[in-house]
Amino acid sequence: MTAAAGDGGQPAPISVELREITKDTVREVCALEVRNDQKGYVAANALSIAQAHFEPTAVFRAIYLGEQPIGFVQWRDGGTPGTVVLWRFMIDRRHQSAGLGRTALALVLLQMRRSGFETVETSVVRGPSGPLDFYLSQGFVEVGQATPRGEWLLSKAL
Ligand SMILES: CC(C)(COP(=O)(O)OP(=O)(O)OC[C@H]1O[C@@H](n2cnc3c(N)ncnc32)[C@H](O)[C@@H]1OP(=O)(O)O)[C@@H](O)C(=O)NCCC(=O)NCCS
Repeated sequence: MTAAAGDGGQPAPISVELREITKDTVREVCALEVRNDQKGYVAANALSIAQAHFEPTAVFRAIYLGEQPIGFVQWRDGGTPGTVVLWRFMIDRRHQSAGLGRTALALVLLQMRRSGFETVETSVVRGPSGPLDFYLSQGFVEVGQATPRGEWLLSKAL
């Protein structure tokens, strides 16, 4: 699944894709990292991939810009039918603030919709470098509740 990042006036659209992770790419996906001030807001990719193996409905993908892995996303079924949980999402620190998170998230939401889900939920740690405002700018709304682990719940109709 691909999408063009950036504004329409650019000469060559940049291809953003979600790709399966393989034995040949897992090391470079695990080497992707967020900024130091963001490390409390998302798990390391290696931990996410390990956790996915114990969650039967988990789907995880690398986010590619052209042939380069630049991010990671993971989701799983939610507690109610039709609901999916965006579990992990990150763009490597060297590729942030270039519109790639927005483009990748749009691909993820499209894939969720095509899989038959109607609602996506996520939860965020609130803080100065946290992703709350990013998600709000992408159409998520605050549920007004926290998870048992204290993360702030957000949702969006697909
Ligand atoms: C959140 C994250 C994925 C955004 O990726 P990104 O590639 O930097 O985002 P984009 O460049 O596509 O930004 C899209 C919009 O959101 C805004 N934005 C991005 N990160 C933001 C943040 N932390 N707070 C507020 N706004 C933010 C951008 O300014 C941009 O606004 P615009 O549409 O008005 O230009 C990235 O910052 C990240 O990996 N953060 C650390 C991990 C994390 O917190 N993940 C989520 C929890 S699982």
